[in-house]
Amino acid sequence: MSEQRPLIIVSNRGPVTYDRDAEGTRIERRGGGGLVTALRGLREDHDVTWIASATTDEDRVVAAEGGGEVVFVAHDPLAYDLYYNVVANPMLWFIQHSLWGPAFNPTIDHAFNDAWCDGYVAINRAFAEAVVAQLDNSPDAAVFFHDYHLYLAPRMVREARPDAKLAHFVHIPWPVDWTTLPEEMRRALHNGLLANDVVAFHTARWARNFKRSCTDLACGVDRTFVTHHPISIDLAEFDALRESEEVLAAEATLDRAEKLIVRVDRTDPSKNIARGFRAFGILLDEHPEWRGRVKLLARLDPSRETIPEYVEYRAAIEAEAAAVSARYPGAVEVQVADNFPQSVAAYKQYDVLLVNAVYDGMNLVAKEGPLVNARDGVLVLSENAGAHEELGEWAVTVNPFDVWGQAEALHAALTMEPAERRRRAEAIQAQVRENDVAKWVQCLLADLDRVSA
Ligand code: G6P
Repeated sequence: MSEQRPLIIVSNRGPVTYDRDAEGTRIERRGGGGLVTALRGLREDHDVTWIASATTDEDRVVAAEGGGEVVFVAHDPLAYDLYYNVVANPMLWFIQHSLWGPAFNPTIDHAFNDAWCDGYVAINRAFAEAVVAQLDNSPDAAVFFHDYHLYLAPRMVREARPDAKLAHFVHIPWPVDWTTLPEEMRRALHNGLLANDVVAFHTARWARNFKRSCTDLACGVDRTFVTHHPISIDLAEFDALRESEEVLAAEATLDRAEKLIVRVDRTDPSKNIARGFRAFGILLDEHPEWRGRVKLLARLDPSRETIPEYVEYRAAIEAEAAAVSARYPGAVEVQVADNFPQSVAAYKQYDVLLVNAVYDGMNLVAKEGPLVNARDGVLVLSENAGAHEELGEWAVTVNPFDVWGQAEALHAALTMEPAERRRRAEAIQAQVRENDVAKWVQCLLADLDRVSA
């Protein structure tokens, strides 16, 4: 890569978070999420300052001490709660993944207006102030904002530092229709993003939708370079994980049937886990030859459990899984735990990987699984996952709402000829190997060069 550059990365979650163990000693943990993993590599080659929310008490202590590799912003806890649990998740996340059922939800009431002002605006302001303070130390640094938590901050920074180089990566889908939010709010989000020199998405589809929603709102997009680069994974990390002791141990205890269908997801309504169980039940109803021969293993990481919609969805997942188990004992196994080595063990062993997301910005499971799979497994992939733009031609495509179609897709994947399975699995692997996360980072930096020129 080229010369070291000063970069300021801004995201809600940081690359590390701190806690204290039973003895009271400070411990450091890796921050979760694909975004953090993807950006970690940047720190090895460039002069990176990372600004993130303090999410634990110990992060706050680190914030007060100052220094360190992460600048933690210690927000007012009430403001953070409104920002994270009311506005960013679920409101913006649900709008962007088309998860609301508008007959009943959402309702924009007084409480939401307060959450917007006292939570979302206030936290974005706190982030913007932290960025401006960093720019005072390092005026030439380029600023990289990430995701839906921070749509307002770029405009606030731009007002304070008109010449700053600002880029924003949106990691989730962009819908055309934003009318769920009152005009003033949706306009503020668009104008916030348009204060960046570059706004980037994972796919052409989300970038196109962004340009359309800007046009619909008559927000001028001309000053901003709108582009798309698909995020990917760290090949070396997965090549090492594949043979690691933890993964081999997890593999040894993996309980499979003649055929194994795997899914790996956070317990998020956007992941479409409940409909996936329904589809699997239909497969067994309609194709009795599979009964007792195929198993669905769902590895689920608990996610955002402070949000009522997520608690409800978790119950829906369990109900659908129980309904299939009642008809076909032993046919499904649900593991709810944050345990990545177990997920990688399942990746290695699947015959079919089910990724049926309602909508998804990218979906890295669709890349991680095929990279380590050892059985020429078939990828069943939602047409609404960003990964479909790159991998769709070698996957069995499904519509996320069509459970019959998903059942038939599972059957087609389970019965696919070995030569065809291999051809597709190899093509996906090659695509992922050629387009790894290092390439994604290079594209982001090239965008900056382009706007700086
Ligand atoms: C998605 C978002 C990330 C987020 C991650 C985990 O990948 O794009 O911004 O960090 O989910 O969600 P959480 O709410 O736990 O940070």
